[in-house]
Amino acid sequence: MLIGRFFSYRSFSISTCHFTKSWMAKHVSDPYVRRSVKENYRARSAFKLIEMNNMYKFLEPGHIVIDMGAAPGAWSQVLVKEVNARTNKGKKTQQQQQQNELLHPSEITSLHKPNPDLKCGIVIALDRDPIFEIPGVHIIDDWNLTEETTNDCNKRLQDLLNRLKINKVDGILSDMCPNVTGCKEIDHSAIVVLQRQALHFARRLLKKNGYFLCKLFQGQETFQEMRSLLESLFHIVHLVKPSASRYQSPEMYLLAMQYHADSSDISLNTDNNNQRIETKRNEIEKLLAEARRIRTKKNDK
Ligand SMILES: C[S@@+](CC[C@H](N)C(=O)[O-])C[C@H]1O[C@@H](n2cnc3c(N)ncnc32)[C@H](O)[C@@H]1O
Repeated sequence: MLIGRFFSYRSFSISTCHFTKSWMAKHVSDPYVRRSVKENYRARSAFKLIEMNNMYKFLEPGHIVIDMGAAPGAWSQVLVKEVNARTNKGKKTQQQQQQNELLHPSEITSLHKPNPDLKCGIVIALDRDPIFEIPGVHIIDDWNLTEETTNDCNKRLQDLLNRLKINKVDGILSDMCPNVTGCKEIDHSAIVVLQRQALHFARRLLKKNGYFLCKLFQGQETFQEMRSLLESLFHIVHLVKPSASRYQSPEMYLLAMQYHADSSDISLNTDNNNQRIETKRNEIEKLLAEARRIRTKKNDK
């Protein structure tokens, strides 16, 4: 069963052909992969977040957090525990517990019970890819940050926030990664562009003193630019390379804490509002022009 679980995640795709004997040998002997299977995390990435939080203690019970690029869901699994999110203890889960073999690993994690003596937090997971249900997590998949305005991503998120009565959140985490091409320059620029967009998104929703955690690839000027940008918006910025992050990988994390929110209260619908205001303004301009034309015509008669 243990070995079977190595194959059960979306991140492991035989069809995408990253599957070689040596890759497999490395993968199954990786201590973090083994630990993730043992501790029912969907991916070894869980340990990166655990480690960063152990270092800087930014996650707290009661926090409202958004996990961007959350699939397959390992960070969200960690977040559920750290913010003490409410999990559903419905009948279905109990029945499923009896048939342990059929449980998705996330359901096993649901055995984590929220502590009633601590504040309860909320976890929202967003990704363009599907995410299996995680007890305690509000999931919006088929959500693409770069196509936010072209499909109904914004609306679905805003509806969820309204339903949960959330105006601002304590933290936004972005482990998002664009499809890598193998060309260092392109990949480095692509991830910076993506994370800049994530930051723009985060600024609309972050509370004062909130935190933003994002993944980047180190080694290019653009990395330094992103760091400076974060330093201008947050009081503290840490550069972290958790030991669970593979040594050969250029991936690094920037953890920005204590957001000093500027007074521009950027709401999720700002872009739409601006567009609407612009359209209205154009309509009014047209009506005024028409009125002027009619008046001049009358005067000419
Ligand atoms: C490294 S994985 C995240 C792993 C996750 N933190 C975990 O622990 O399970 C990166 C994710 O970013 C998502 N992603 C990349 N670009 C995106 C975009 N424009 N909008 C939404 N999700 C995106 C991918 O679909 C992928 O699932």
